[in-house]
Amino acid sequence: MNKIYLWGIIITAAMLGFTYMSFDFKHGLSDIVNQLAVAGAIALVLITVFVVIKYVRQMQVDTATGELADENWDGIGEYKNELPMGWSIMFLGTMVWGMWYFTIGYPVNAYSQIGEYNEDSKILNDKFEAEHKSISGERLVEMGESVFLAECKVCHGISADGINGMAANLNVRIEAKSVKYAIENGANNHLLGTEMPMPDRNGLFNNNTGALITDAEIDAVASYVANGMTGAGADVFAGTCAACHGEDGKGMEFVAPSIATFTPELVVNVLNHGKKAAIGEMPKFDRLNAKQKEAVGAYITSLSK
Ligand code: HEC
Ligand code: HEC
Repeated sequence: MNKIYLWGIIITAAMLGFTYMSFDFKHGLSDIVNQLAVAGAIALVLITVFVVIKYVRQMQVDTATGELADENWDGIGEYKNELPMGWSIMFLGTMVWGMWYFTIGYPVNAYSQIGEYNEDSKILNDKFEAEHKSISGERLVEMGESVFLAECKVCHGISADGINGMAANLNVRIEAKSVKYAIENGANNHLLGTEMPMPDRNGLFNNNTGALITDAEIDAVASYVANGMTGAGADVFAGTCAACHGEDGKGMEFVAPSIATFTPELVVNVLNHGKKAAIGEMPKFDRLNAKQKEAVGAYITSLSK
């Protein structure tokens, strides 16, 4: 018998021996996963030894035959070899598998840390909402204050004063410059939750005089609104704005928002859509859940009272 077969048998026995020793039979073969692992290990040992023997034998007995390629390097030539069928199949197979993997395989459909994080957050948020659904009144305002301190104070300041005009001062409903800006440019910030814009100054007529609103009237009505609906400018408001915003400025459902007071709904709409106007840009807040938005809305509404 050729020496190489002897070696093959010795190495096979040794490797199977190691496999046997490293396996914990006490807990072992009870389940299918372990059984498959052991079967796999044995198969690997046998295949490895078989393949090694096959190629060592081939190296011992083979003589090169076939057609030489034209090129040679200092007399060292190269045979023309057909691409092995098995290799070609594996090459194409890898490509097909790669496309499957990128499109419908792992990255899109299966486990990912981001997916797990999103699922966990959703479960926690649902639990949170269920737990806090019944909170209202004073406790809702307190909850809103916590949300405000965590999410809003970076721009609006701890006391919600807007930090020297960097963001809106939320202790008052609205400042004169913001009113002026809305009148001059119109407004389209989804404050009602829907796309319901306010016309710009070219669309605003003072019904008392029948003419387009003038600069002086804009100044007057802006300070009237900013002063909490008091002082000069009341007639301009009644003639130009009341039709949409109501006599008292508290707004009308589906027509115009309240510009006399904050309402939780208005704040929630600002949080859902963001806002861009005279002062700057306020981002929308998708990461707050509905209850948190309602709470911070109640908190801000409580500030200007
Ligand atoms: C045709 C109806 C209409 C008229 C008239 C009108 N508004 Fe408005 N106004 C709206 C609507 C609708 C919005 C909300 C727009 C939005 O979603 O951004 C709005 C928004 C505003 C805002 C912005 C509020 C905020 O929080 O930024 C101010 C201020 C305002 N109006 C003031 C006035 C004043 C003052 C007048 C009178 C000079 C007036 N509006 C006339 C419909 C009207
Ligand atoms: C990145 C800075 C920033 C953050 C964070 C921020 N805001 Fe604002 N917010 C602004 C700016 C700027 C404005 C003024 C927009 C304008 O009218 O020009 C504003 C305006 C507002 C208004 C006024 C809306 C109106 O129509 O008058 C409300 C209400 C508001 N923010 C609530 C909040 C709440 C609640 C949070 C926290 C959940 C928050 N903001 C976080 C920048 C911010």
